[in-house]
Amino acid sequence: MHPLQPSPGTLPREGHLRERHAARCRAAVTRALRKRGYFILTSTSTQSRASALFTSYPLAGLRLSNRIVVSPMCQYSAGQDGAVRPWHAMHYGSCAISGAALVIVEATAVSADGRITPNCLGLYDGAQEAALTKLVADIRTYSTAALGIQLSHAGRKGSIRASWQGGGSLADSEGGWPTVAPSALPLHADWRVPAALDTLGMRRIRDFFVEAAQRADRCGFDLVELHAAHGYLLHSFVSPLSNTRTDAYGGSLDNRMRFPLEVAAAVRDAWPAGKPLGMRINSTDWHPEGLTLDEAVVFGQRLKSIGIDYVTTSAGGAGLERLQMPPLVPGYMVGFAERVRRDTEVAVMAVGLILTPQQADSIVAAGQADLVGLARGVIDNPRWGWHAANALGADARLYPRQYAQARPDRWPGYARIHGDDVAPTPGAGADGTTR
Ligand SMILES: Cc1cc2nc3c(=O)[nH]c(=O)nc-3n(C[C@H](O)[C@H](O)[C@H](O)COP(=O)(O)O)c2cc1C
Repeated sequence: MHPLQPSPGTLPREGHLRERHAARCRAAVTRALRKRGYFILTSTSTQSRASALFTSYPLAGLRLSNRIVVSPMCQYSAGQDGAVRPWHAMHYGSCAISGAALVIVEATAVSADGRITPNCLGLYDGAQEAALTKLVADIRTYSTAALGIQLSHAGRKGSIRASWQGGGSLADSEGGWPTVAPSALPLHADWRVPAALDTLGMRRIRDFFVEAAQRADRCGFDLVELHAAHGYLLHSFVSPLSNTRTDAYGGSLDNRMRFPLEVAAAVRDAWPAGKPLGMRINSTDWHPEGLTLDEAVVFGQRLKSIGIDYVTTSAGGAGLERLQMPPLVPGYMVGFAERVRRDTEVAVMAVGLILTPQQADSIVAAGQADLVGLARGVIDNPRWGWHAANALGADARLYPRQYAQARPDRWPGYARIHGDDVAPTPGAGADGTTR
């Protein structure tokens, strides 16, 4: 029965007969239209089903309209000047109308030597700031998604080619540059050997993070995420695989966390209190001698105590030797998010093979994470959020008005492609025409 149709048991007999007659007429019309090739939308999704994924979420002074986040994704498509190019307008414009409440711009270098490749984004000069300011303003013309940016220093993973150029270290003669790290240990034997940072060098990098955050604020970003995962500089301090220092920044977990915590505290002071500041951390290095989940929990607790608003619980990137990866099943890192959330009480974004709306919804509903970050799922389907709202019966009104005619309640084709669990529209004709 259609959800808006009253139960026959509640109708007087005459009304009941009238309703049966109307139902027979509707069925006849439906059969006739089907014969002519039309597809009739019959659905239950006008019933309002509770969806945890589409509840709003307050993160510091920012209210996210739902729990879906576009996770940062390096595009390696900036100019050699580190500034955004038309590709970024296309890519982030598309992400910003995906239905996600928050889009986080890719790892963006806080200094020239903090880039991964020569074509990484940077936010360390005025031209980069101006170009990003324009991008943010342009996107806001059409999208209500919150916009964040991930600030990063590549450390010993800098000065390399993009994977589509074959990867590997760039020599100076190829436009490469000297790299820095906690210890003079290359990631791979044939990669550039980084210089071990002294405390002056660390202070300079801390200040680069602060300046980049100030620029991000002026650009109009709502949120900053500090990248302390995947083997980049801040994570390489926390991980015992890359940090063999014997001073106050190496050895015990307290010492290994010291530099990233100093950076986080300095950025916290500089970044507006009402704007969320997060950090992406490694929950594990997938290595028997690497960072452990227990250590990540302690790191999360310390981050919370200095005012970090959320952590993203990722993993890996610390090297390929003796890697002990689990099978890459959907949600394979969600357990990390759950543990860190439980034991730190900081807000957590889960990432890693979060694929379907139902899976994402159940992660939030079960309290495993506050937010779900999707990367490849959004590349694959830049309308992921729209379809999730339709599948979960959420009235999320995510379609930009320019695209409203493709909504399931206006376009019969939607049900043909995505299944018929969608609502008939009050505004559409029975033949699927839209007004
Ligand atoms: C093309 C691409 C680029 C990425 N770049 C970044 C990045 O800039 N910063 C980061 O923290 N993670 C980066 N990641 C990791 C994603 O943000 C995400 O955590 C990971 O891909 C798992 O999510 P998924 O299974 O939804 O793709 C990247 C992933 C992809 C596929």
